[in-house]
Amino acid sequence: MEKDYSKYFMPDLKKAGLRSKSSTEFIYDDLVIPEALKEIAKGRKYLVRTFGCQANERDGETLNGIFEAIGYTLASKVDEADVIILNTCAIRENAEQRVFGEIGNLKRLKQNNKDLIFGICGCMIQEEHVVNKILDKFHQVDILFGTHNIQNLPSLLLKAIESKETVVEVYSKEGEVIEALPVRRNDNLKAWVNIMYGCDKFCTYCIVPYTRGKERSRKMEDILEEVRELKNEGYQEVTLLGQNVNAYGKDLNLGYEFGDLLIEVAKTNIPRIRFTTSHPWDFNHKMIDAIRDYDNIMPFVHLPLQSGDDEILKRMGRRYTYESYKELYNEIRSKVKGVSITTDIIVGFPGESEEQFLNTLKACEELSYDSAYTFIYSPRNGTPAARMKDDVSLETKKERFNRLCDVVLKHALKHNKEYVGQTVNVLVEGYSKRNKNILSGYSDSNKLVNFKGDENSVGKIVKVKITKAKSFTLEGEQVE
Ligand code: 5AD
Ligand code: SF4
Repeated sequence: MEKDYSKYFMPDLKKAGLRSKSSTEFIYDDLVIPEALKEIAKGRKYLVRTFGCQANERDGETLNGIFEAIGYTLASKVDEADVIILNTCAIRENAEQRVFGEIGNLKRLKQNNKDLIFGICGCMIQEEHVVNKILDKFHQVDILFGTHNIQNLPSLLLKAIESKETVVEVYSKEGEVIEALPVRRNDNLKAWVNIMYGCDKFCTYCIVPYTRGKERSRKMEDILEEVRELKNEGYQEVTLLGQNVNAYGKDLNLGYEFGDLLIEVAKTNIPRIRFTTSHPWDFNHKMIDAIRDYDNIMPFVHLPLQSGDDEILKRMGRRYTYESYKELYNEIRSKVKGVSITTDIIVGFPGESEEQFLNTLKACEELSYDSAYTFIYSPRNGTPAARMKDDVSLETKKERFNRLCDVVLKHALKHNKEYVGQTVNVLVEGYSKRNKNILSGYSDSNKLVNFKGDENSVGKIVKVKITKAKSFTLEGEQVE
């Protein structure tokens, strides 16, 4: 018998990809917690497991904040939890497979604890084929909600507890900017700060513009207030987050852009500022000059290239050529002292020829990145690239992937070796469990540094002399 899903708010990827000219609504108070739920939460525990990118991490912190505001406390392991939420990622097939594996694993918990509430949210739930599969095959799931309505968690939770039915609420809309939701951060030194949501670039391989709505910026004063608060709480570092931070402000029409925001955030004197992710298309001189001119804007840029071949870039809808990318890359390298630059590369885009792949390999040799995240193309339902003809075998794609990794690693090691003998600033995050004299943290240029030092340095920015370089880490000794 056909299931009747008409009572649910089901996802619709096609609708999610539409964009109108309407301006963004700003909502300053949107969390409603029913009294009955506060009663239920007493003595009960929650756990949120987050997959995927930093934006999702930050959403996970909001979910934690909402649970705490209701009155739940954090469970230290899954067996202890009365509510478990999986906050999912849809960027590639393997990210989705991991989540389906996890849903299967959690089945046994439900068998042991009949009152356990099990929810799934995040980018995967914005996809109709995922929601249909869960409703058909995974009856242990109680709540499904998307990226646009995490503020509705309290009412959805209460509904699921009271009705004992699966509750589905997914909106396929462009999205608002919702301020002032509670947050429980996972770290007390480094904080994620959303500066914008969504994406309007529609790269042909990418699901994000469909799962996260349109590009919409937070107002500068709201961002600055959050950064000032974090500074007062003792945070040493903020990372400004957006799918494409360089487009910041364009939708607001308030006369400021990402370069202006960087400068204002720098003036708060928070010790360290990072940002991610950048799209080469929107990156301009003002932004580069800001990174150069302010000591607390860290010399580190993640600048996804995706491919070094112009024909592939065009079919990816990336809006730049290799030459124009190179110009930007070289400007950043030459203007910002000690900068490190990393990238994302996709191999095996539909129909990629050996010659086109070689252009990517050549680009990586020529640009010499500090590091790169490399991915094999994964078709995403509903995106234009998923409909393109692909005659390249997975075996060939894997073989290209390995050749690319060799080049990336060679350059990573080369850059790291340049640090030997230099003294760098490190924000000390912690020490090795086995040896409290071995500390670790990241340098200004975002290199992971393990070093001999004083355990009282945890939480501080200290000077470390680098003595050894590996492909992924540096080693050294604290000098101050
Ligand atoms: N297949 C493989 N990699 C992808 N990425 C985005 N979509 C896909 C896809 N369908 C990669 C891009 C992006 C990074 C976050 O993930 O390189 O920059
Ligand atoms: Fe995807 Fe492109 Fe948006 Fe990045 S900028 S999330 S690659 S569509």
